[in-house]
Amino acid sequence: MTDAPAQERAKPVLPDAQTVTFVKHWTDRLFSFRVTRPASLRFRSGEFVMIGLMGEVNEKTGKPKPIMRAYSIASPSWDEEMEFYSIKVPDGPLTSKLQKIEVGDEIILRPKPVGTLVHDALLPGKRIWFFATGTGFAPFASLLREPQTYEDYDEVIITHTCREAGELEYGAALIEDLKSDELLNEVIGEGFWKKIKYYPTTTREESPKMGRITDLMRSGEAFTDLGVTGMSPETDRAMICGNLAFNLELKELFESYGLEEGANSDPKHYVVEKAFLD
Ligand code: A2P
Repeated sequence: MTDAPAQERAKPVLPDAQTVTFVKHWTDRLFSFRVTRPASLRFRSGEFVMIGLMGEVNEKTGKPKPIMRAYSIASPSWDEEMEFYSIKVPDGPLTSKLQKIEVGDEIILRPKPVGTLVHDALLPGKRIWFFATGTGFAPFASLLREPQTYEDYDEVIITHTCREAGELEYGAALIEDLKSDELLNEVIGEGFWKKIKYYPTTTREESPKMGRITDLMRSGEAFTDLGVTGMSPETDRAMICGNLAFNLELKELFESYGLEEGANSDPKHYVVEKAFLD
């Protein structure tokens, strides 16, 4: 047996390393990227994993310490790569570095998917609602590309509230691309995308629909715009992913409609996950 060449031996080996295959910057605050998928990794659309980068060397141990954060997987379970959608926090321990990744770089991806935004956590229904703010769109980017979403429901409503119009672009482009998604057109049938109702709103910049989705629901305006009478436990199922205040407000609204929170072990009418921020 021969020894590895000196430079190969010297190269630090990242545990659970995956290679970056694609990076796109959507705004000065938002970017998405794709990485290779570990061969053995199975996950359910809507789940999240821990991803990160190697940080500085720890003075005590003399070893670098990984900086890891929870990220919703934005790609569907059938995709051979994995996609993530991230905010860039200038002083954020991870995202200040992560925003600089380029194709060919490596990131750490712990192959242990978990999460509550999964179809298994909901009882059968007629219409599914996805409610997101900001990067909370990520798990729905996965679920909107998941055939089960259209197999299980007659109608799919996705609402996305952001501060500025540019922050809606990642979601808007993804929904537009669904129309020509080969797998979904083949498995669900041509025109499957007509089941989707997309309801983007902004709060701090002019756009066709202004306001927080919660206020638009309270006033009834959102329901009128979407052509539905409201939400009920008989027909409607929902998933929420946004900032904490948003999640709490929506939970309160849902409970007032008679919807109950479900879990993997106890499927009900709606499920909630925090959008993970740096
Ligand atoms: P607003 O601009 O009125 O605060 P953030 O970037 O702070 O996480 O917010 C993302 C989006 O979510 C913003 O459009 C923000 O609106 C909105 N938002 C924040 N809190 C709530 C809430 N409690 N209910 C509904 N929307 C919210």
